[in-house]
Amino acid sequence: MYLPDYIANIKAFLIEKGLPDHIDSSVILGSGLGDFGNEIEHTLTIPYSTIPDFPQSTVEGHSGSLIFGLIEGNTVLAFSGRFHFYEGHPFERTVLPVQLAKAFTVNKLIISNAAGGINLDFRVGDLMVIEDIIRKNMMLSGPAPEPWKLDLYPIADRVQEIAASVGVETKRGAYLYVKGPNYETKAEIHTFRKLGGDAVGMSTAPELMEAARIGVKATAISLITNAAAGVTDQKLDHAEVKEAAEMKKNEFAKLVKGLIEEL
Ligand code: HPA
Repeated sequence: MYLPDYIANIKAFLIEKGLPDHIDSSVILGSGLGDFGNEIEHTLTIPYSTIPDFPQSTVEGHSGSLIFGLIEGNTVLAFSGRFHFYEGHPFERTVLPVQLAKAFTVNKLIISNAAGGINLDFRVGDLMVIEDIIRKNMMLSGPAPEPWKLDLYPIADRVQEIAASVGVETKRGAYLYVKGPNYETKAEIHTFRKLGGDAVGMSTAPELMEAARIGVKATAISLITNAAAGVTDQKLDHAEVKEAAEMKKNEFAKLVKGLIEEL
């Protein structure tokens, strides 16, 4: 299955803890979006620190646990806390949630993140369905079973349809991946806009690529938590991420529930 050996060990450990062999949906919760875990019923919460071979998430706003449970009768595995390259994890380790989702044969993976808005039509609190990615300095995590490509446009169409059907307004655009951890300069954002980037962030692109490589159906949603550098005069800080997430957590939950049921 082109997965590293430790994935089978982690799965065996989680099954021993009570997880089933197959899980319907998986969700990666971005910065500040961990509250979605409260929507899950009959939960089993397993801290990353107790799982063998699991990297630890060190970023503020990421709690670092697996939450397994039910949403409207569907089994869900949520990753509350992800792994970023800028924390010192190699790319191959940052995509562990995608590989674990594959090991549990999920039908879909919903990825979320906090991102800076480059597109001048975007406002803080907008939810952007990712229709494509732009990669800066990023490497693949391993050989593909067969030549693969990333084509997110059809699934982005479907996600927007479902969002509309549950009454959640979405924007749509290209996510430009940067390694971080520092925010961008004004000149970089100016350049990124010319390149066609609509939002900028430090995660998700490796995960989407890994999903394409190993054949996991995946979509990704950015919560625009701030205007990117130079779009406004405001200084960027982590408090904004929390504020925007707090403001939009109900809409976000409605959308993800819709996707769990319909996608
Ligand atoms: N830049 C990069 N990553 C981010 C930003 C940003 O402005 N906001 C949230 N994540």
